[in-house]
This record gives sequence, structure tokens and C-alpha cells, in this order.
Amino acid sequence: MTRDFDWRPSGTCTVIVGCQWGDEGKGKIVDVLAENVDVVARYQGGANAGHTVHVGDNEFILHQIPSGILHEGTRCLLGNGVVLDVEQFFEEHDALVARGIDLTGRVGVSQRAHLLMPYHRVLDRAVEDRAAEKIGTTGRGIGPAYEDKAGRRGIRVADLNDAERFKRRVDEGMQRARARLEAIGALDEMASLEAAMQATLALGERLRVLAVDTGVEIEAALERGEQVLLEGAQGTALDLDHGTYPFVTSSNTTAAGAAIGVGVGPTRIGRVVGVVKAYTTRVGNGPLPTGFEPEMDEHMRQLGGEFGATTGRPRRCGWFDAVLARHAARVNGLTELAVTKLDVLDTLPEIGIGLQYCAPDGTCTRDFPADTYQLSQITPEYEMMPGWRQDITGCRKLEDLPANARAYLDRIEELTGTPIRWVSVGTRRSQIIEVS
Ligand code: IMP
Repeated sequence: MTRDFDWRPSGTCTVIVGCQWGDEGKGKIVDVLAENVDVVARYQGGANAGHTVHVGDNEFILHQIPSGILHEGTRCLLGNGVVLDVEQFFEEHDALVARGIDLTGRVGVSQRAHLLMPYHRVLDRAVEDRAAEKIGTTGRGIGPAYEDKAGRRGIRVADLNDAERFKRRVDEGMQRARARLEAIGALDEMASLEAAMQATLALGERLRVLAVDTGVEIEAALERGEQVLLEGAQGTALDLDHGTYPFVTSSNTTAAGAAIGVGVGPTRIGRVVGVVKAYTTRVGNGPLPTGFEPEMDEHMRQLGGEFGATTGRPRRCGWFDAVLARHAARVNGLTELAVTKLDVLDTLPEIGIGLQYCAPDGTCTRDFPADTYQLSQITPEYEMMPGWRQDITGCRKLEDLPANARAYLDRIEELTGTPIRWVSVGTRRSQIIEVS
């Protein structure tokens, strides 16, 4: 039977994804895209993400609520792929309301999302403190919460529907946490846990009324012809499958994770916007192939203000890594690229791009290696390009940029095989150049 009908709704989902180790400045590009979007949804991660936002004269950092919330009228969702830190969520929620932002009817949480409990945070820190090989986590409980999810012992928002079931699950979770803490000699952590658990449990009813089916809601929005933005946290190199395992986060940060993480099919995704910083940074442990020597590292950190939004830790810095960017373009199926913080390179006499990785035996590759430990032994081969040595923060069009800056962007476009649509030359909205 063949019948003519529109199987695809008129609205589309756009995914926005980081292409390095997180902190690419995705929030800036979300701000631009959110101007024409009806729904913004986060699809993975938890309060490990951090996006600095400005409301009037106040600056604060959103960890759990999508940054699209600052666009009046935008509906913001937390998908099933998110691990929801209830305390953090309401702290941000109430801080936004206190600053005059009307959230009535604007926030929804997937019934299928897993709750990140205080014991996940405690376990994360206790395990990390004692680990021989530290990941350098944010200490926000992300790994233990996803462990419970995959182990089929997690607590979901939908469990709040039945007080008895919810209590049983929480009690079981606490017993497991106690046993694990005891096993690693960290039982003294239990003392602070009881109070934190009470605070979280008291928020249950407030959370329950926000529960929705994000997949159903997004599909309905698409059928009405609306535009939906699926906002990724962290970056491709921190993806559980495609990143520098085990020095990764515990979720699929890449674009395919977006469909799973909100509950829509992959055919609903029309665009995938990748965000890269004009150089590379990494916070936490694990190899950084194009990382600088200490002096240049410190210089770039100061130039770029490279300190973690969630933990305040200094970020390691390096040249733009085209091997990683190509990997990100492929794994995410990028349709377009945004390059951020180009202005940070303004004063440098020359700028490097990592073209390929060469092993101690002399063999070189342009494909991102699966063996993370080999990655710490490779030496990148660089292409050095002349810098532009002028202030570009006042540039508003591509043509305003100096020729050397345009040549640098052309090279990034060529090496990633992805057209550049946005370039940021400063922190303000007006400093994002749209490339037509
Ligand atoms: P976790 O996600 O807290 O388990 O941390 C795992 C790794 O991901 C660590 O290297 C963290 O530093 C890194 N990470 C997690 N969230 C972010 C982020 O938002 N930006 C940059 N790195 C992150």
C-alpha cells in the first residue's frame, strides 16, 4: 500500500554539540539560536555543565536548567537522558524567579529522567579521592548516577508517583551507598548525607508537578511547525563511547545522544551545529595531544580566562586540534560549525593547527585513535599560520576580519569539511559574527 502523506513534521530539531572537551562556549551560540526557537531541551549530563549567564547586572552560572530559559516564552525541558540534581535544579529555578524571570509553565522535566541523589555526589568524591587513576571529575555525582541507571537500580522522576515505591527505592539506594562507602573506608561521609537527603526529598512534590513526556511534547511541537533546540553539555572528546575513555563523562554527549536523550527518532533532527573554540582547552585528567608547554599554557589561560565554570579549576590549553575536530565532524554528522573566542588569539605572532598525530615509530594518522593511552605518547604535526596581531573585538562582519584571521577560519573549514556559520570575537551577543 502506497499512500502519499507527509511523514515528517514541518518543525525540526537542531542539535548543538561541543566538538572538543567541553567549554567551547556553546551557551553563546545557544543564545543566538534560541532567538528563533520555541523549545530548548537538554539531553544528557547533569550539574557538571556550567554556563555563565548575565541577567541585568547579575552574573550567575546555570548548571542544570537549559540556558535558553533567558529567552522569554521559550519552553525549557530536561530530557530523559539527563541525571537531575534536584537541589541544584530548584536552587537555579528559584534564583531565576528571584531575578524577575517568569518561569510559569516554562519548565518541564522528563518522567524518565533519573534523579541524582546526594549519595551519588558523596560517592563520586569518595571514589575519586581514593582512585589510583583519577578522572578529575566535577564531583557532581555524574558517574555514580549513570552507574545506577545502567545497573537498573536508579530512581526516576516517575517514581515520585508512588510515595511508597519512591521511599523503598531511596532506602535501597542509601543502603547501597553505605555499603560502598564502608567498603572504601569512607563511612564518615554518611553523617552529612542524612541532612542532604532530607532536603532533596522535601523537593519531590515540586518536581512531580513539572513531570512531562519530553518525546511526546517535542513531537507535538514539531507537528505544530515549531523549532526545537537540543542542547548538548560537555563535548565530543568527553563522550562515553567516542571520547578519550576512561577520561570522559558518563553520557553520550554527541549528536546521536540527543535523539535518545529526549525521546525522538533520529529522523527528526534536521541540523547539527558543532561548536569549537579557536584553540583547545581541557579541564580534568587525560591526554591533551596539542597541549602547550607550561609557559605558553599559562599565557593562553590568562588570555582566554580559562578556568572551569563548575569547579574553578584551571583549564589546560593547546593549539586547535584538527584531528579531533574531524573526528567530531564525522561522529556528530555536523551540518555547520561555530568558532568561538577567535579574539583570544589576537596578540599571537603565529598560530598552530594540529594536522595529524605521529607515534614514536614514525607512523602518522589523521584519525582520532581509540587507544587513549597511545594518545599520550603521540606528537602532533603542526601547521603554523601567521597571526593577525590586531584587535578584532570590534569586527561585526566576516569582511571586517583581517586576512590572516579569515585564512585561519578557511583552514578550519577545509580541515573539518564543515561550513562555518558563526564566529565569536567577544563575550557580547553583538560580537557573534553571522557568516551568510
Ligand atoms: P564528570 O562528568 O563530573 O564525571 O567528569 C568527567 C570528566 O568530564 C572530567 O574530566 C571533567 O572535568 C569533565 N567535565 C564534565 N563536565 C564538564 C564541562 O561541562 N566542561 C568541561 N569538562 C567537563
